Amino acid sequence: MSSPKRRLLITSALPYANGQIHIGHLVEYVQTDIWVRFQRMRGHEVHYVGADDTHGTPIMLRAEKEGLTPKELIANVWKEHKRDFDDFLISFDNYYTTDSPENETLSQSIYLKLRDAGLIEMRAIEQAYDPVKEMFLPDRFIKGECPKCGAKDQYGDSCEKCGATYSPTDLKNPFSVVSGATPIKKVSDHYFFKLSDPRCETFLREWTQVKTPLQPEARNKMKEWVGQPGDSKLGDWDISRDAPYFGFEIPDAPGKYFYVWLDAPIGYYASFLNYCQSKGLNFEEWVRPDTATEQYHFIGKDILYFHTLFWPATLHFAGYRTPTNVFAHGFLTVDGEKMSKSRGTLISAHSVITSGFNPEWFRYYFATKLNDSMEDLDLNLQDFVARVNSDLLGKYINIASRSAGFLVKRFDGVVSDEALNNPLLTEIASASEKIAALYEAREYAKALRTIMELADKVNGFVDENKPWEIAKDPEREADLQRVCSVTLEAFRLLSLYLKPVLPQVTAGVEDFLSIPAMTWNDVKAPLSSKNPIKAYKHLMARVEAPQIEALLAANL
Ligand code: 2FM
Ligand code: ZN
Repeated sequence: MSSPKRRLLITSALPYANGQIHIGHLVEYVQTDIWVRFQRMRGHEVHYVGADDTHGTPIMLRAEKEGLTPKELIANVWKEHKRDFDDFLISFDNYYTTDSPENETLSQSIYLKLRDAGLIEMRAIEQAYDPVKEMFLPDRFIKGECPKCGAKDQYGDSCEKCGATYSPTDLKNPFSVVSGATPIKKVSDHYFFKLSDPRCETFLREWTQVKTPLQPEARNKMKEWVGQPGDSKLGDWDISRDAPYFGFEIPDAPGKYFYVWLDAPIGYYASFLNYCQSKGLNFEEWVRPDTATEQYHFIGKDILYFHTLFWPATLHFAGYRTPTNVFAHGFLTVDGEKMSKSRGTLISAHSVITSGFNPEWFRYYFATKLNDSMEDLDLNLQDFVARVNSDLLGKYINIASRSAGFLVKRFDGVVSDEALNNPLLTEIASASEKIAALYEAREYAKALRTIMELADKVNGFVDENKPWEIAKDPEREADLQRVCSVTLEAFRLLSLYLKPVLPQVTAGVEDFLSIPAMTWNDVKAPLSSKNPIKAYKHLMARVEAPQIEALLAANL
């Protein structure tokens, strides 16, 4: 039974345009893409948009270091990011940039609406300033000696040697990472979004605690922030930065720019607006407060506050709809440890491809680890090899290679229609709504376990019926056709269930089974004698253990 047609706008977090996509990022894009592809297969209207997050001090300084303008740098990085997403089969409907005219217009108009609502306030604040470079310094651009243990070259927030935490003003002999100069204090005017305004508090308490079905961990975290009436920890949010800054200028405030985190989430809408204009879709219909459309953001748990406090408040008080939900995931570890450059485990997406890995191995492996929680997930490299080879190749792909040959050679690829009335097939088909519910709930690990249990049953059926023996007995032609037909139809159903995870392999399956692109309803559209299958062609290779060593070496 499929539900009525839903209309979904879906996003993944926008990666900064100053670095490569690595496997930690990929967890999120794969998680989102599986959900997106699943929703499309269900027949819903789905728009999946992304963009590079291009503004801010680090990008400005990196461009300068590389002798490029920021616009040149972000154009180069955009191409790399887009290549990586394409390689990993991330099916964005639009991949854009936050440095766009749409985003400038939207950011400014949203800001003006917040200002009209009396939620913007200007205040003078004192900050660290580099007198040589003539710029204000974000905390991470100040280093010095640890106030506790004296270790040199420590960042302004914590000491890597002794673990002490402190604020940049506590550092001894501080210096600017940009010029080496000793920072001075300087006062300047900043613009604040008054989140401490009672209207914001009330709205956010309701939005995070009642209205939105946030993950329980997320809801509890937000509860600490929005507290009880009169006991909120929400501070006003500093949304401006002084020139020089790569970003959008604030209206009526010369030399002041929007802080990157103001225009980044608006970048979701800007990408969608850009897409709507090119496709003739009605953007307004999706973003107005009374819309019946749904809006979901997939993010990492580190940026929860931005998406469950700042972003909904920005939208609400600027007169837009708010997100239907925000889905946060945990961090990726490799062999139980934080990814590390020196161990070669900070694995770039591109190195995976150039080392000859099949991106679908990673999509599958991540999916076997993903659930709806914010727990961290581990890429265990030995387990990766075992899972890919034993589940994907041994249990799934193997089914097709074991049965297709006989059908093509002996029966011109024609299945027996009567054979498909079979209890094994009924059992597999009847798991369809259970598997769909697991995908819907982002319980991919459970969905795949269910699918692999069904694959075990199919392999059991093949082992019991031994088509390779039946094939030796000329009297048992019909039997052979029956067994191979059942097996291939079972393979079709498993492929349908795996399609959100393995789009490329399953496209190959559709081709060799001579069937149109499968949607979820095609559970009820079995193979037919009218459509002979083609010869089986190799769908996926095994992963070889030495490839892992090569991959790690490529990232050192
Ligand atoms: O944390 C990050 O990598 C940010 N670039 C994510 C931005 S997501 C959205 F809000 F734009
Ligand atoms: Zn220290």
